[in-house]
Order: sequence, then structure tokens, then C-alpha cells
Amino acid sequence: MLRVLVCVSGGGTNLQAILDGVAAGTIRNTEIVRVISNNPGAYALERAKNAGVEGVCVSPKEYENRELFHEAFLKAVDEVSPDLIVLAGFLVVIPEMLIAKYRGRIINIHPSLIPSFCGTGYYGLKVHEAALERGVKVTGATVHYVDEGTDTGPIIMQKAVEVREGDTPKELQQRVMEEAEWVILPAAIDAIAMNHTK
Ligand code: GAR
Repeated sequence: MLRVLVCVSGGGTNLQAILDGVAAGTIRNTEIVRVISNNPGAYALERAKNAGVEGVCVSPKEYENRELFHEAFLKAVDEVSPDLIVLAGFLVVIPEMLIAKYRGRIINIHPSLIPSFCGTGYYGLKVHEAALERGVKVTGATVHYVDEGTDTGPIIMQKAVEVREGDTPKELQQRVMEEAEWVILPAAIDAIAMNHTK
């Protein structure tokens, strides 16, 4: 079984898609061992609890400096020795120490077709605002491995989504989630899990 740790910051709809996929058997050979949130109020923690998965909050606000936060975060990861770390709407920069230790075992979902609308400052609704501002007719989502850069790691899976005339950023965000994110993130985890021999 692939032991998966999911990191979240907010609503957790991508986490829900993963939990549902595991329950339905569309994500095979996978166990969600822990959910970490940087935000104590994240609804994602509620979703973890409802699914019987342990939820842990490691908030930077509870630590005197970034170094102590990173140490606590790494400890919360190491405790469950995950085979795969999934960043599912995790809006905190991952410590380099963690990237080095878990290289090739951390994936992220980004709500655009990388290399468009990605990198520093492009997260959440801002990505869709930028896509509408530029006037693109097609956008989408990307699952990629995480390296030291922002959204620069090798691409695993992408799915395109049509932009419609008159879309608001929220409408576009919702369509990208439904048609792309909630499809390719579970599919990528399943593909990784099926290649996992343990
Ligand atoms: C998702 O749209 C995800 O792609 C995005 O945050 C949202 C989280 O929603 N991630 C990024 O922008 C990362 N750069 P969720 O909490 O409902 O899954």
C-alpha cells in the first residue's frame, strides 16, 4: 500500500476527491495516513475527521521563527513515514530540507496549464483572474512533482478546460476543479500507487 500524507490550507475539495477515490476504489493500493494543515480553521481538517483520517495542524503562527516551524512540520511528516506527500491546496512554501529528503515523492496540484499562470503569486483565485485578464480560451490544471522552484518540477498529468464567455473568476475556478483537478489528482495518485511495490 502507498502511504499518502496530504497537506492542505483551506476548503479541502481536492482532499475530498482523494478520500472519495480511496473509498470508492478508484484510487487503488493507497492509504491516507495523515492530513496536515497550516491553518487551524481549515474545513479540510473536518473532512479528514469525517473520513476517519488523522488531521494535524502545524501553524507557523505557533512558532517563534520559520526554522522552528519547519522543524515541527518535518517532524509531523516523518512521524508517519509517507511514501507520497500530496500538496492539495497547500499555500505554504515547503522547506528545502523536506524537498531534499522526499525528492520525487512530493506532488502538487496547480489550477492552470503550467507553464501558464504559475510561479510566485499565482495561487487560488488569482490564477483564474490572471487567465481571464489575458483572455485565454482554454485553461486547466496540472499535477507535477515538487522541486525547489515554484511550480517548476516535472509534469505528471494535465487536463484542459474551456473558458466560457462572461466567466467570473469563481465560475472558472469551479469548472477547473470539477472538470480537471478532482479528476487528475486522484488519477495521478492511483498511477503512482499502482507502480508502488510495497
Ligand atoms: C485548488 O484550486 C488548488 O489547485 C489551488 O488551491 C485550491 C485549493 O482548493 N492550489 C494552488 O493554487 C497552488 N498554487 P481546495 O482546498 O478546495 O482543494
